[in-house]
Amino acid sequence: MSDNRTRWGVLAPGRIARKFAEAVGGAGDALVAVGSRSKDRADAFADEFDIPRRYDSYAALVADPDIDAIYVSSPHPYHRDHAVLALDAGKAVLCEKPIAVNAAQARDIVAAARRNGKFAMEAMWSRFLPIVARTRALIAEGAIGAPRMVSADFGFRANVDPKGRLFDPALGGGGLLDVGCYPVSFAHMILGKPVEAKALACLGETGVDEQNVVTMKFADGALAVTTSGVRTTTPLDAVVLGTDGRIRIHSPWFDGVALTLTRPGEEDRRIEEPRVENGFEYEVREVARCLREGLLESPVLPLDESVAIMETLDQARAQWGLRYPME
Ligand SMILES: NC(=O)c1ccc[n+]([C@@H]2O[C@H](COP(=O)([O-])OP(=O)(O)OC[C@H]3O[C@@H](n4cnc5c(N)ncnc54)[C@H](OP(=O)(O)O)[C@@H]3O)[C@@H](O)[C@H]2O)c1
Repeated sequence: MSDNRTRWGVLAPGRIARKFAEAVGGAGDALVAVGSRSKDRADAFADEFDIPRRYDSYAALVADPDIDAIYVSSPHPYHRDHAVLALDAGKAVLCEKPIAVNAAQARDIVAAARRNGKFAMEAMWSRFLPIVARTRALIAEGAIGAPRMVSADFGFRANVDPKGRLFDPALGGGGLLDVGCYPVSFAHMILGKPVEAKALACLGETGVDEQNVVTMKFADGALAVTTSGVRTTTPLDAVVLGTDGRIRIHSPWFDGVALTLTRPGEEDRRIEEPRVENGFEYEVREVARCLREGLLESPVLPLDESVAIMETLDQARAQWGLRYPME
């Protein structure tokens, strides 16, 4: 790092990369370069966000010696190749969710991070929101006793576009990978790695899941159920039921700033946590903190946990017979 700021490069300047670009400045870091498959797209993105260096290939981007960390924002079937490219070039990596299309590809990213001694993290941004951190703290201090059940949902109604990222199997389409990874990740965060996962889905005309339900069982008997989809709008809630109360977080993967804590014999308490700007600042700051402290992964979302989440998603898809062409 030059001054105290992490110097970021964006790999694949698509829709979500714009949100990331806005957040970097808000987090106090510097966006210094962008790489696209097209010179025009690299130039347009660089001009819009005032980025000094622009590259017409991902290889040229990751070879820039004056970049500390690469944000990988290509569609998920490309995460493995693009994250490994950056790690092998000696860069830290923040890779968009889901970390890959399956656990095998996620393990390749983890192996590249460890082989190169470089930091890597899945960009599961909601995990770093203050309201989600507050939930972890409340549970750790025993506010609801022992967590026994989790239910969480993330679904929205998109129009079917067979060539679009959400519906095209070649781009890893389907509700589970696009949004289901959020509530499944949340269940892992609260209850750990499940010992069993059972799942149902409705596959649409392009062959990917339009909506799905995943149930998980944990070693201590705890259970979780998640619902997600790209053709049905859901309430966007996460609920943790404990032996001595419950927490409902409102919209934790969207614009979550509030939770309700319910305890037997007490008035419900609404707890709010502010959220700055677009919300990606928290994950950006977490990467900067880890780099400053010489950590190779984040304790809030360790790499093995991202792999375990992919294993759960793999188990669900296997039960539906949903296999992507690149697998
Ligand atoms: N954290 C969040 O809230 C959030 C929200 C939405 C999406 N995401 C994740 O971010 C990733 C990107 O999603 P997005 O909605 O930003 O996608 P997008 O708008 O389609 O952008 C993806 C970019 O990847 C590059 N790319 C490389 N190979 C490609 C290929 N074969 N086909 C299409 N694009 C390719 C393209 O940039 P160039 O050609 O210019 O290099 C494209 O602009 C996905 O993994 C998604 O799950 C995260």
